[in-house]
This record gives sequence, structure tokens and C-alpha cells, in this order.
Amino acid sequence: MDRRPIGIFDSGFGGLTVARALIDLCPGEHVVYVGDTARYPYGPRPAAEVATFSRDITRHLVEREGVKLVVIACNTATAVALDELVELAVPFGVPVVGVIEPGLRAAAKASSSGRVGVIGTVGTIASGAYPAALGRLGLDVELACLACPGFVEFVERGETVTDQVHVLAERLLAPMRQQQVDTLLLGCTHYPFLARTISDVMGRDVVLVSSADETAFDVRMVLGSSDLAGDPGRGGTARFLSSGDLDSFTRLGRKLLGPELESAEPLVLAPPAR
Ligand code: DGL
Repeated sequence: MDRRPIGIFDSGFGGLTVARALIDLCPGEHVVYVGDTARYPYGPRPAAEVATFSRDITRHLVEREGVKLVVIACNTATAVALDELVELAVPFGVPVVGVIEPGLRAAAKASSSGRVGVIGTVGTIASGAYPAALGRLGLDVELACLACPGFVEFVERGETVTDQVHVLAERLLAPMRQQQVDTLLLGCTHYPFLARTISDVMGRDVVLVSSADETAFDVRMVLGSSDLAGDPGRGGTARFLSSGDLDSFTRLGRKLLGPELESAEPLVLAPPAR
């Protein structure tokens, strides 16, 4: 039994979708969640900057919080920093799991035509991380990738089913509709909150896949195979750290995650080792 916590991080509170799935699937695990709300959003930032933020947070989780596994619950951070975070954590014996490969595997499984679409932030799509992961996994699907700038901001404002977001979705998703995909992977933490609007625009016969559940299954598998699993007979706890305003993180986060998010603590990062 390994009672150390699992570390999860995201640019803000979107990654709470992954935390929710993990808490439900592995109720015996302790969890420490970091939401980098002071530096959110990551999507439009240069890749090198997102990689620096991701390194700082991973070092904090590994060195200060003593986590046994790190989950990058942010597609943009996974896209630009997965490989270097895996390397950073190796000396500590800490595995790192991102959201891209689990999501792709689930989408490929769900597709019967083999034509899969993926939508994400500008940073995620520009990185080419999805086609690269497809090649690594050797999955036999054709992938159409599309950036959807603006979706995240609507979710942040709590506008998930308004006329305005519908109009934006019609415009942004038009090229994806032409690709005639039968499965659409929501390659951003925030997009599951727009699922109804996206489904209306894409058509009911297009299956939407979110990476949160699949990532949780991957984490459980890695814990089991590396002898890191906690005690399933004892309830896990959850702590939440935010680099931004703690009250708004708690208020909004609680709406998204549920009652486990009672309060948030300040995230104080060590000065970068550069
Ligand atoms: N968490 C980001 C992602 O999944 C979306 C929000 C942001 O741009 O920071 O790509």
C-alpha cells in the first residue's frame, strides 16, 4: 500500500473533470490538485512558457507535496511538456500521465468509420501533439485537428448553452463538419461543459469523447502495475491548491467538482531552478 497522494494539475479548474473521474474511480487515493488560475489560460501562450509553468508545478508536486504520480490534467500542458515532465520525475520514481494518449485511444475505440476529429486550444493543435501521439500509438484512424479559440472563455463565463456560444460553435466547427468524422475527441478540459452545444452543431450521430474518464482508467492501471496503489478500504482525501484568488477558485471549483472541494490553499512555488 502506498499512501502518498496523487498530484493533478491544470491551468485552472477545467482539470477538475479529471480529478472528479479519479476520485470516483480510485476512492482510496489521496489527491492534491493544483489549479494555476493566476497564470490561466495556457491555450494562447507560447509553448515554452507553458512548459516552464508545467515544470515548476511538477517540481512542487514531486518535491514539496511528495506525490507518487503526476497527472497533467491539461491538454495544452500535456501537448507541450509531457516528455520533459516524464524525464523530470524519473529520478524520483514518479510516473507522469497526460490526457492526450488516453483520449485518443478512447476515440479510436469509439469510431466505426476510422475518421476521428479532435478539437483543442490553439496551443494544443499547433503543437501537433495529437498526430504525434497517434503515430506513437499506431492507431489505425484518420485524424482531423481543429483549434477552437473562444470556447474556453465562454465556459469561464458560465455560458455553455447560450445563443452566442451556439453561433460561435457553428462557425468554428464548420470545417470539422466537412470532415465527416463519426467521433469527436474533446481535447480540452473545458469542452465537456459545451458538450450539448457541440453535439447540436456536429449532429447526434457524431460520438463525443472526453479524456477525463480514460485518463482516470490509465492512472489506475499505472498505479496497479507499479505497485503504487493506495488502500482501497480507506477513504482518500482531496486537497486543492490555487495560484489565484482562493475564494473564486473554491466557489467555481465546488460547482464543477462537488462537495469534496470545501476550501483551497495558496500555491506557493519555489523560485525556478534556471
Ligand atoms: N486546460 C486547458 C486545456 O485543456 C484549457 C484552458 C487554458 O487555455 O488554460 O488545454
